[in-house]
Amino acid sequence: MAWHIKNNVLRIVRIVKVKVEARDVKTLYFRDDLCSQAKPGQFIMAWIPDVDEIPLSISSASNGLASVTVKDVGEATHAISQMENGDILGIRGPFGSHFRIMGRNALIVAGGIGAAPLLMLADRLLSRNVKVSFIEGAKTRSEIIFRDQLGFLRDKYGLEVIFVTDDGTYGLRGTAVDAAEEALSKKRFDSLYACGRESMIRKLYCLAEKYSIPMQASLERIMRCAIGICGSCVMGRYRVCRDGPVFDSCMLRDVMGELGRFKRNFRGEKVPVED
Ligand SMILES: Cc1cc2nc3c(=O)[nH]c(=O)nc-3n(C[C@H](O)[C@H](O)[C@H](O)COP(=O)(O)OP(=O)(O)OC[C@H]3O[C@@H](n4cnc5c(N)ncnc54)[C@H](O)[C@@H]3O)c2cc1C
Ligand code: FES
Repeated sequence: MAWHIKNNVLRIVRIVKVKVEARDVKTLYFRDDLCSQAKPGQFIMAWIPDVDEIPLSISSASNGLASVTVKDVGEATHAISQMENGDILGIRGPFGSHFRIMGRNALIVAGGIGAAPLLMLADRLLSRNVKVSFIEGAKTRSEIIFRDQLGFLRDKYGLEVIFVTDDGTYGLRGTAVDAAEEALSKKRFDSLYACGRESMIRKLYCLAEKYSIPMQASLERIMRCAIGICGSCVMGRYRVCRDGPVFDSCMLRDVMGELGRFKRNFRGEKVPVED
């Protein structure tokens, strides 16, 4: 069992700070002992009274404080995005596997809101003297997140930050995969970490294999129980909530038939992934 029974107890927390990251992305901070000890890549189930319960990555954790960074894409994420200081949120977790620190030269690739669990990872890697290049891809300038936080890590620890947008309105023009390909062809990395769309993770996995670099990626599936019981998050022989969400190269190889091609809908039916 990857989680402790106490992690699954619902706690009610109060939002203590809200930071606007982009037009439709906000980071909400709350106090919780368990979440403040979470490792990068772990997630919580956030319960919004009268709305829904949804999985969200923990985007920061320290000194009793934790945060989630939410993109407003539907009913539940919209409701969280409207929350202000003093509002309450139900939480369970942290759940799932986490990114493992390995190697001395890491390449991190974030696609859009996929940056949420990767900022904390970059911070942890840098504080252990791992050299880190961080690629953040977005559609356009207004969707870039964590600009200040990445700038802080660049100034404090020498993090290399590469922004890339589809339309070239911020940083390089292109995709996060293009930028990763360029970085890999120029520099020797010994670990690759990613979170974002499955099509991006699929392409990065092929690059990681080409350059013989171990990879870890955080995957998403519909989640309900978050503790391996309900089966909503089945992917191949894995339950993403329990065996993931962080998959290593071996696990990614196992799910290549499905990754970026099929997912399960709320009825549990296997349906094609739209990109
Ligand atoms: C492990 C994990 C970590 C995540 N971390 C973040 C994060 O840090 N920030 C963030 O903004 N989003 C994150 N997500 C995605 C987030 O859970 C969905 O965007 C959210 O559930 C959408 O709910 P909604 O009601 O706003 O939108 P809806 O209109 O209900 O759904 C919008 C999309 O989200 C998917 N979705 C809906 N409910 C769930 C669910 N229970 N589990 C998984 N996917 C769902 C749907 O398939 C749909 O494509 C994460 C998902 C997972 C599985
Ligand atoms: S969410 Fe229930 S088994 Fe994973």
